[in-house]
Amino acid sequence: MSVAVVVGATGAIGRVVVARLVAEDHSVLAVGRDLDRLAELAAVGDEVETCRLDLADPGCGAVLVSALDGRSVRLLAHLASAPLGGDILDTPDDVLRAAHEVKVIGLLRLVRALVGHFDHPARIVAVGGNLGFDPVPHASTAGLANAAQANLVRQLNRRLAPDGVTCHTIAPGPVATARHRDLLEQEAEATGRGVDELLAAATAGAPLGRLTRPEEVAWAVTRLLDDEAAALAGSTLLLDAGRRTALP
Ligand SMILES: NC(=O)c1ccc[n+]([C@@H]2O[C@H](COP(=O)([O-])OP(=O)(O)OC[C@H]3O[C@@H](n4cnc5c(N)ncnc54)[C@H](OP(=O)(O)O)[C@@H]3O)[C@@H](O)[C@H]2O)c1
Repeated sequence: MSVAVVVGATGAIGRVVVARLVAEDHSVLAVGRDLDRLAELAAVGDEVETCRLDLADPGCGAVLVSALDGRSVRLLAHLASAPLGGDILDTPDDVLRAAHEVKVIGLLRLVRALVGHFDHPARIVAVGGNLGFDPVPHASTAGLANAAQANLVRQLNRRLAPDGVTCHTIAPGPVATARHRDLLEQEAEATGRGVDELLAAATAGAPLGRLTRPEEVAWAVTRLLDDEAAALAGSTLLLDAGRRTALP
């Protein structure tokens, strides 16, 4: 029996990813730190089991393997978010390190532990963000950590795809979540502009005239499980409602 592992399952987007996987008949191992929110996910039904781990713990991979209890992994979806850093000139070193630890080292810890436990085929899907490709100076950690994560995904893909484990990045634009609100509040503090004004600008910045929806991220995660998605090995899917102006 195999499972879909969702790291960051307790988050705003992670919860929607879990719901879509369950709707598509996958067994889910929902991973996070917040015990109350993990309990809410476990209450969804028998299809969802939970695992509490902290990506900052060097032993987190062993915790995950133990929770698998002998089952193989069809999907490792990584949706854990880095702490927000604010302005690039002011972000403390420890926040930069913490962001890297969640997005890059934490993901790598889990993947290393899972080698030998993946299905063939299987997918590793890292949800990064458009700021990794279109950096702005008031969102330091989202830019740096997501760029590094995309590089990690390509390295992993070259290493693991020959064994049938393809690796992918999904880079959403802003999604209407508490995290995006926090980011806008930081920007408002730095620039003196209002949160509502910044939200209107972020919304208008996409040709679709709206933010990306959690359901659209969940759609992309599940469609990457299709056999036909194998040729997307190593690639990045930008789910930014068209806001990027540069190629690729
Ligand atoms: N929201 C947006 O506008 C947006 C835009 C583009 C990209 N993204 C990306 O989409 C993903 C999900 O975003 P979101 O809005 O759903 O974030 P969120 O609501 O803040 O959720 C973050 C998740 O990450 C988990 N997490 C954080 N640090 C962790 C650690 N050290 N160990 C284990 N788990 C940890 C949290 O677990 P606990 O709460 O249980 O601690 C939670 O499940 C992130 O990668 C984010 O960068 C978001």
